[in-house]
Amino acid sequence: MCYAIPGQVVALDGRIATVEYFGERRQAYNEFPSLKVGDFVYAQGGFVIKVVPPEEAQEILAVWKETFFELQEVDLRLARLEVEREGVERRVLRILDKALEERPLSKKELLALLGLQSPRERELLYKVANFLRRKYHGNATCVHGILEISNFCFRNCAYCGLSTHNGSLWRYRMSDEEVLEAVREAVEVYGFQALVLQSGEDPGRSVEELAELVREIKRRHAVLIFVSFGEIGLEGLEVLYEAGARGILLRFETSNAELYEKLHPGYNLSQRLAHLERALELGYIVATGGLIGLPGQRLSDILEDIFLTRALSAEMYSFGPFLPHPATPLAFSAPPSPSLVLNTLAVARLVDPKNAKILITTAFETLDPRAREIGLLSGASSLMLNVTPLRFRPHYALYPGRAHEEETVQEQIAQTLRLLRSLGRAPMDLGV
Ligand code: 5AD
Repeated sequence: MCYAIPGQVVALDGRIATVEYFGERRQAYNEFPSLKVGDFVYAQGGFVIKVVPPEEAQEILAVWKETFFELQEVDLRLARLEVEREGVERRVLRILDKALEERPLSKKELLALLGLQSPRERELLYKVANFLRRKYHGNATCVHGILEISNFCFRNCAYCGLSTHNGSLWRYRMSDEEVLEAVREAVEVYGFQALVLQSGEDPGRSVEELAELVREIKRRHAVLIFVSFGEIGLEGLEVLYEAGARGILLRFETSNAELYEKLHPGYNLSQRLAHLERALELGYIVATGGLIGLPGQRLSDILEDIFLTRALSAEMYSFGPFLPHPATPLAFSAPPSPSLVLNTLAVARLVDPKNAKILITTAFETLDPRAREIGLLSGASSLMLNVTPLRFRPHYALYPGRAHEEETVQEQIAQTLRLLRSLGRAPMDLGV
């Protein structure tokens, strides 16, 4: 996963390959010198990552072809806009009609949507977001794996259970061999095509060592690697890109500079944004976003977070609820309501209908067990499965009671495929 479906190269223009999937064409950046028109490839996040032998591709395509169009039909049915307009304020109807016509909404209008409380009105917002998701992304759902390679962290983020506030956490650092074995299993046994490697800001593994690990993974597997090691320095970004990493997952957490400094004493937002901007310059696919419902955060801050994500040309929006961790200074702050999280995902879809892959985060799943289903029907289009070995997983305690803490990768995949099938979605990543 992205249990990608292979596509066929139908045109090549320099580094840009046009890849066709059951009649749909997408473009992907190609780094394989020998690629030719007619080849079958896996593309991920806009990169061609692997050339597949034609027999193998045709076999997989034959299996998918049967279900692909059926899935599309289910998705279409669920995304239909037969909406109950009764009980919805006229002003809200007007804003949502405007959204459907894809006329830009003002900040005031978007704020009104973000703050919607009435179930009828929220339902209509989610339907519109789902409609736009389908219009631009079809039923493609991006499923990445995440491997949490170390929970050491020297930062003092006020909300985070891995921070220095948490003196009682058992700390682990997977050895290179353990990481390589987990990656091998994720790629070779389970078929992941894109993996996020994540850790706290761990002084125990230098950038050079991380780069060597990425290089070794790339030597062994054709897999798209996202790095998520916090602020590793602008040069560090370059070193990891050269080693073969092509994506970065780094949330700016909040776009409110004052709030940022309160939550991260001694650090500042501009330093964080400098990383994201540099990553973009280097050619990374950027996944970023913020925490929803931080103490002191206003609705307008969340809207600004969405705008900032778009301004950073993020390909993936990663927005999840703040959940209080008992060993942190925010232990007694309340988490947001699940509807605020859904409103945020839906408004993000309205703000960036065409480009955004919108992630359903594990934090949202922890807040609401139906998060995946309701999120995928409210504009979201992306999931991450946890491939961290079970013996380490409970110790990656960003917040308590994380969803999927005890599920094997196999169980998570089975559940995900069941859910996607019921919603008419195909686990694939059609790239840009
Ligand atoms: N609740 C929700 N998300 C959290 N993160 C860290 N602590 C928490 C928490 N208490 C998120 C941060 C970070 C990501 C790895 O985990 O946004 O970027």
